[in-house]
Formats: sequence, C-alpha cells, structure tokens
Amino acid sequence: MENMSREPFSPAEVAGFRADFPYFVTQDREGGAAYLDSVATSHRPKQVLDTERYFLENLNAAVHRGTSGAVGAATEAFEGARAKVAAFVDASTPEQIVWTGNATGALNTVAMGMGEASTALGALTEGSERFALGAGDEILITEAEHHANLIPWQRLALKTGATLKYIPIREDGTWTVDDAREALNERTRVFAFGHVSNVTGYIAPVAELVELARAVGAITVLDACQAVPHIPVNFEELGVDFAAFSGHKMLGPNGIGVLYGRPEMLAALPPSRTGGSAITRVTMERAEFMPPPLRFEPGTQPVSQIVALGAAVDYLVAADMQRIAATEDLLVEHLVAGIEAMPGVRLLGPASHSAAQRTSLAAVSVDGLHAHDVGQFLDQEGVVVRVGHHCAQPLHRALGMASSTRASVHMTTTKDEVDRFLDALRGAQRYFGVEVSA
Ligand SMILES: Cc1ncc(COP(=O)(O)O)c(C=O)c1O
Repeated sequence: MENMSREPFSPAEVAGFRADFPYFVTQDREGGAAYLDSVATSHRPKQVLDTERYFLENLNAAVHRGTSGAVGAATEAFEGARAKVAAFVDASTPEQIVWTGNATGALNTVAMGMGEASTALGALTEGSERFALGAGDEILITEAEHHANLIPWQRLALKTGATLKYIPIREDGTWTVDDAREALNERTRVFAFGHVSNVTGYIAPVAELVELARAVGAITVLDACQAVPHIPVNFEELGVDFAAFSGHKMLGPNGIGVLYGRPEMLAALPPSRTGGSAITRVTMERAEFMPPPLRFEPGTQPVSQIVALGAAVDYLVAADMQRIAATEDLLVEHLVAGIEAMPGVRLLGPASHSAAQRTSLAAVSVDGLHAHDVGQFLDQEGVVVRVGHHCAQPLHRALGMASSTRASVHMTTTKDEVDRFLDALRGAQRYFGVEVSA
C-alpha cells in the first residue's frame, strides 16, 4: 500500500490535471510555453478559481464582524479554510494557523514579534520573555537563505543588540547537520533556516536540526515555502516552533501566506501589527488582545483568497502529496541528469539526484553566459524559467556568481517540458558560441 501511494502520476493523469488549469489548457491548445517557474509562483486550477468566484458572488461578508447570518456563513468558510490548512500540515488545531500576506509576512511576524518582546512592550504579553533578545544572544541562520528569511533577522539583531550568525554554505551550495552542530551553542536563541532551498533544491534534515536546536534551548523557525507545495510536510513530527509558507506557490491565490506555530509559542509572541478586530478590550491608554491566531490578524483579511487556498489544499490532498512528490522526483531526476550531461553547464546544489536531498528544481550557471542572456534565449524558445539571484544574493555570491537560471517543476509538469528546457539550454550555448564539446 505504501508503495502504491508513492506511484508517480501516469502521463494520462498529468494530462487530466492540466485540463483543470486554464493556463495550461490555453498553452497546450496553442503550442505555447513550457512553464518551468512553479516555485516562483504556481498556476491555479479551475477548482481554486471557481471557489474564489463562488465565495465572492454568494457568500462575501465581513468575516468575524457583526451578527448577521451572512457574516456567519462567510466566517464559516474562512475558518473552514484554516482547518483545512491545519490538517494539511498536521497541526493539532486550526488555532495554530495564522493568516499573513505571504511567507515573507509570516517570517516578519515572528522576527518583529521578538523585537517587540525585547522592549517594554514585552511586558504586555505573558510569557514573552522567552523571545526577548539582547547583547550576547545569537540568532543563527544559513548563508543559503532567501532574503525573506535573512533581512528580518538582520533587523532584529540590529534592534536588540543580538549577534546574527550564519552557517556558511559548502561548494555545492548546501550545508549539513555537522555544520549546524558546530554553529549552535548555549547562546543561540533562534535558529531560522529553509526547509528546501529555492536555489539548490536542497532538502534540509529538519527533524535532526530541530533536535540539535532544542538541546541548546533555541527556538526554531522554518521557512517551508518551497517544501509545503512539493513534499508531504508534518510540522508536528518535525517539531519546529514556527513555520512559514505562501498560498501562491501551492496552487492558491496571491496575497495569502501562513504562519504555523506551536500553541505555547504563539500564545507568548507579542503582536507586531495591531488594530481592529484582534482585540478584546480597548481603552484610550491600552489594548488587550484576542488569543492566537486572531491576535495576529488585525484589519480586514484577504477573505476570498483564504477560502480559495482551502480549495487548493483540497486539490493537493485529492491528488496525494506522496504521489506529487514521487512525480516531481522523476522529473527532477531527468532534469539533473540532462544538466549533468551538458559540458559547460554548472549545476548548483547536490549532484547526482536523490529524492532525499533535492526536490522540485535545478538551477544552473552556463559558462561564458550571463543568466539574463540565457533567460532571453529560453524565452524566445517558449521556455519560462527564472533568472537572476532568486532573492538569495549571499548564496550566489558565495558560489562565485551574481545570478543563475532556475527551472522548476510541479504536479502538472511534463517530461516534454523538461526536455524543451534542456534543448533550449544547449541552443543557448550554440547561439552565443560558448558550446563545449564533451
Ligand atoms: C525559500 C523561500 N522563502 C521565502 C519566499 C518568499 O515568499 P513570498 O514572496 O510568497 O513571501 C520564497 C519565494 O520565492 C522562497 O522561495
């Protein structure tokens, strides 16, 4: 049974999924683009688009405000989506899921909350001392982080006097448990790291890392942005204190992100953004706040997007995350093998593909070519990829380059699309005269 559920999708099943996505229907009908940029943003199936439209046409009302039946129905849809997302990442309760604008917002909610805890405002939230930082404390990250999991910690360090430390990457862009063991110590208060790198596709051994962090009393913050859409993720099992991900990378809408937190962590974290509807009692001098998650959701939320994210989760669950992972694994194996067979092309991240080490993407640097030239050529060939630093400048700098070309897959990607990328990459070498013979 276990093996059965890890069966990759057949080409007919992938074609069935593609038929659900208006974008792919149009592209396939018109012989259009090979879309290999899902890790930047994914397309949405009609089930997600229809859910949002249905909500807006039939149920839209001011969620959590007032007493009308209309508000009740809208609130039920809104909270129903929270319950779906909670179950999807194996949170014990929906209250462990906080809506934010995106993964960036989720990471900032934690870092800025710790900033508040480090000031006089900390006294307003019971238990927030655990988040208060000062001189002598260390925040640990890695050199491989997306800027969203770097800059908020830089600012927290500047604000509190804590030291920002990082685990340097190795030659292939990865880092190991041993590297983390060396960097963690009794001064480490926070360890924030990416589950899956958006540049190397490297899958960090999260559970082991969390255990190491726990042993020194550090709070763990996981950037799970590139994991949740691609591999089964169980935050309870991984043991992380906080985790962040984005709706628009998992077949859902823009404008919605998720912060997962362990209940006692969320309960002690001060809110860094405040305003209407997150409160219980307000006087002219003071405000008292709701328990989480509503404490962290001041102001009107992107309600229709949240309800549609629930539909995206339904879609992923029905397809089966194990099978999605198995399908992407085959595609990435093909992608990596094709790249490794190409002289003059450097693969970033783990070599010789293994599903335990890499998922969903491969980024390359082509000898003699700027990534933007490669990107322009691929674009002419109808291959949509991401070029640039992918919001990971320090990682690229450490690898000795300013930018790279990244191809990524999802449950809707075909082997033919991957071949189109590989062919176009060879074509770029030929076109610009940098072809290297094997
Ligand atoms: C690893 C990683 N972290 C964080 C983010 C930020 O996500 P968002 O822009 O949706 O906030 C991204 C987006 O590319 C990412 O790949």
